[in-house]
Amino acid sequence: MRTIFFSSILAMLLFSCAGKTVPSTINPQAFNKLIDGKKVMIYTLKNQKGMEITVTNWGGRIVSWLVPDKRGIMEDVVLGYDSINGYLNAKENYFGAAIGRYGNRIANGEFSIGDIKYKLAQNNGINSLHGGINGFSGKMWEVVQNDIGELSLKLVSPDMDEGYPGELSVSMIYRLTNDNELVIQYEAKCDKPTIINLTNHSYFNLHGAGNGSVLDHLLTLNANFITPTDSTLVPTGEIRAVDNSPFDFRKPTIIGSRINSEDQQIRFGRGYDINYVLNKNPDQNVSLAASVFEPESGRLLEVFTDQPGIQFYTGNFLDGKYPGKKGKTYGYRTGFCLETQHYPNSPNQPKFPSVQLDPDQVYSHTCIYKFSVKS
Ligand code: BGC
Repeated sequence: MRTIFFSSILAMLLFSCAGKTVPSTINPQAFNKLIDGKKVMIYTLKNQKGMEITVTNWGGRIVSWLVPDKRGIMEDVVLGYDSINGYLNAKENYFGAAIGRYGNRIANGEFSIGDIKYKLAQNNGINSLHGGINGFSGKMWEVVQNDIGELSLKLVSPDMDEGYPGELSVSMIYRLTNDNELVIQYEAKCDKPTIINLTNHSYFNLHGAGNGSVLDHLLTLNANFITPTDSTLVPTGEIRAVDNSPFDFRKPTIIGSRINSEDQQIRFGRGYDINYVLNKNPDQNVSLAASVFEPESGRLLEVFTDQPGIQFYTGNFLDGKYPGKKGKTYGYRTGFCLETQHYPNSPNQPKFPSVQLDPDQVYSHTCIYKFSVKS
């Protein structure tokens, strides 16, 4: 009896110590604000390994993510701000945000379903980017914390929100597992035919956010093809093999080794800003799309998804102008995004997989970001 008593006390102590070794980086007071009449909140997810993720209901954003290195030292590996005002000042970076209704660009902000032509909010030159002027990254989500490792986030986007047809009900589950994975499970339904492409816009730096560039990280991308773009970063419809180009990451390759190559697609993106067509194993719904390794810390990030594409973006539009967490700055190429998705501009490219959602269908999308260490 006594042994059971002492071992359970020991287990409790160990568990709470695992929690305590994590220095919580986010001060919820700095997020105290009303937006659209609702209180901005911070939620914390923890697992038994001491991993901690904080999320805000404003934009369903991942605000911080503490990840151990090979020595067990925790660092916050996602770019972001210390306060809600920081996020509001720098909306165009979409740090950590849930993106919808349509991730990335739709040419000229227009598309048709059948004979009906729809005009979207144009917020990126002539194009519509990441759902328009007030996309899901700027909305207040209804959040319920199911347990210490799981959040449920919901949003109802009204008919013609940013120009998109139909009332769309969206649900996202953020689940932190004891295998150091964040599983993001999206679902949506609409009462009219519409289009949809949700994603997450976290910027990672495996040295820790604000600790320099990501050009020394090694990337592997399970993709034989990209969807090249025009100069406004809208895919032209071509599906191009990565062979003999700076876009071939089928073997682990240092991100910076070819990022300044004389290549039209690199020039348009000012670095990597391109959708990859993922190699899909027809037997597997969710499969490994990409992995990124940073040798100094030993941190390894693997991304799994059931989506047909992934946007690889190297923070080429970051310029350090907004002070980030702990006063650190996020300059050019100091974060990378791996956004699981359908291809940008699919509604205007009949050869791309369809992004239409009909009222009798349920949109579903799984994205898993998994951390581990290797020497
Ligand atoms: C896009 C970039 C864009 C960035 C905005 C990325 O998903 O591919 O072109 O500048 O989002 O932060």
